[in-house]
Amino acid sequence: MCGIVGYVGTQTATEILLSGLEKLEYRGYDSAGVATIWEDEVNCVRAKGKLSNLRSKLEHLQSPAQIGIGHTRWATHGKPEEYNAHPHMDTAMRIAVAVNGIIENYSKLREELKQQGYQFRSDTDVEVIPHLIAQFLKEEIAFGQSNSDSVFLEAVRKAVNELQGAFAIAIISADYPDELIVVRQQAPIVIGFGQGEFFCASDTPAIISHTKAVLPLENGELARLTPLGVEVYNFAGQRLKKHPRLLSLNPMMVEKQGFKHFMLKEIYEQPGVVRACLEAYFNTDWHPGNSSRSPINIGLASEFYADIEQIHIVACGTSWHAALIGKYLLEQLAQIPTQVHYASEFRYAPSPLTPNTLTIGVTQSGETADTLAALAMEQERRQGREPKYQARLLGITNRPESSLGYMVSHMINTLAGIEIGVAATKTFIAQLMAFYALALDLAYSRQTLPLENLEDILKGLRQIPKEMEATLESQEKLTEQLAHEFAETQDFIFLGRGINFPIALEGALKLKEISYIHAEGYPAGEMKHGPIALLDAKVPVVAIAVPGSVYEKVISNAQEAKARDSRLIGVTPVKDGEAAEIFNDLVPVSFVDELLSPILTVVPLQLLAYHIAARRGLDVDQPRNLAKSVTVE
Ligand code: G6P
Repeated sequence: MCGIVGYVGTQTATEILLSGLEKLEYRGYDSAGVATIWEDEVNCVRAKGKLSNLRSKLEHLQSPAQIGIGHTRWATHGKPEEYNAHPHMDTAMRIAVAVNGIIENYSKLREELKQQGYQFRSDTDVEVIPHLIAQFLKEEIAFGQSNSDSVFLEAVRKAVNELQGAFAIAIISADYPDELIVVRQQAPIVIGFGQGEFFCASDTPAIISHTKAVLPLENGELARLTPLGVEVYNFAGQRLKKHPRLLSLNPMMVEKQGFKHFMLKEIYEQPGVVRACLEAYFNTDWHPGNSSRSPINIGLASEFYADIEQIHIVACGTSWHAALIGKYLLEQLAQIPTQVHYASEFRYAPSPLTPNTLTIGVTQSGETADTLAALAMEQERRQGREPKYQARLLGITNRPESSLGYMVSHMINTLAGIEIGVAATKTFIAQLMAFYALALDLAYSRQTLPLENLEDILKGLRQIPKEMEATLESQEKLTEQLAHEFAETQDFIFLGRGINFPIALEGALKLKEISYIHAEGYPAGEMKHGPIALLDAKVPVVAIAVPGSVYEKVISNAQEAKARDSRLIGVTPVKDGEAAEIFNDLVPVSFVDELLSPILTVVPLQLLAYHIAARRGLDVDQPRNLAKSVTVE
């Protein structure tokens, strides 16, 4: 994680860096810093905590510098203190470096550099980088073969060749005051092209208000940015030909637009996201009498589907929950055995190789290191095997321009628009829509679902945006009231069964992430095998009870909790009758087919988590210790 931004050009750098960092704060907010070059010196200012602390520190410094780098940190090595904040500098304070990633061989390098007299001032792994560059620079100046114009670039190139790990780096030096050098190895960095000015950033929202012409660097590449242009090289030093492309992102998309928090805005955007997915993924004119082609339009050719015997899905966090619902749909609709893995586990304990396996990576950011590594491993171990064992990779992402986009040959773009709140909401809904489309497409091509049933599901899906709007309208007040009552509660249990079990997990995760309340999600039937021991009058239970195959079972499990004095909150479409009597509090959702219900049942749980966190006065969009995009292992 961590966010990097860099600028070289004709404007004052500091404000450009700070406003860029504001857009990257979702990547980490333990500390922040900027380094600029001014009057032949590197001026480095850093502050612990949020970017606003750095801003206050910089207020009195009117630096006219036109080159600089900035960083916002999510701590990995070393506490979130100012002395560990980036940029880090070499002993002579001439080189400043901002890094996103991890240097795996840092301790050996650190020892070697210390022995040579380099002074370390932080506990971080990345501080080896400015010292290594200084060392190569010294050698380059004394004995280097390179043209004097390339001395700095060459020293950086040699230094990065010494590094192991996953990283993106931005570097400046007071001795080369027109050069900003940018490096990429397994962590994202994009270059922005302006007029006589160039930018770099970990993610495009940081530079979108300045330019839409961008070039994402690829692994093993470094670039030199000067006011005169951009040159890209590989780590072997060969110059590469590259062309920027235009982004379609609109700067408005990353503003709060009147909502108190990005998360609330993003929850309210969900009906629109479902509409966008319906429009993109489903052919409106399809009906069973006109069924010579699939009703689904996700760009996957039938050869891609041919002979699939098994599906593995790798993901983390909320994307992992979406994958669990995907498994339900792929198994129940398309009849394909499907396993869902935590990417961080799969990487080190992969399932045995099976023939004709489709591996799906689900990641909203397309940058989660664990998910990318699991996919890369799957690709690698199947390489050179007979055709039926070769890797078939599919990515499901909200950022098709991300590292995932470069890795997989097939992709479903989840069309949620940029999500800023660290807790995923609308991107989860879009991932669910992608799984409905994929499972139905596979069901159609494998003829595992009668066309009439397929048509009913499509009709149901088309009703979802309207029903979701109704749910949002009816629940805003209700969940706010519940938040008022439960703001000081210490533990919550969420129960769901079948297709709504992953929603119980997601409800618990949302609450944990943003309100810091301990919460657990369980399959309702499993509660009696252990978690029931936790229940008493102080532990409320949220039960997702949707009429269908497991409704009565969930109601019985809820009764078991009530018998232990737990207060019961029901997320259910039933407004009266049995449910009303059992539950102490009802959060009604519109009635839809059980198969489609997760798209609606998750909404009140998002709102409940949001209102509880807001009532507790917490930083909803940037919860402590988290980052939206986790680009380290
Ligand atoms: C981080 C975020 C989670 C997110 C997970 C996976 O841990 O805090 O909210 O679900 O990463 O992110 P991805 O971008 O791969 O979906």
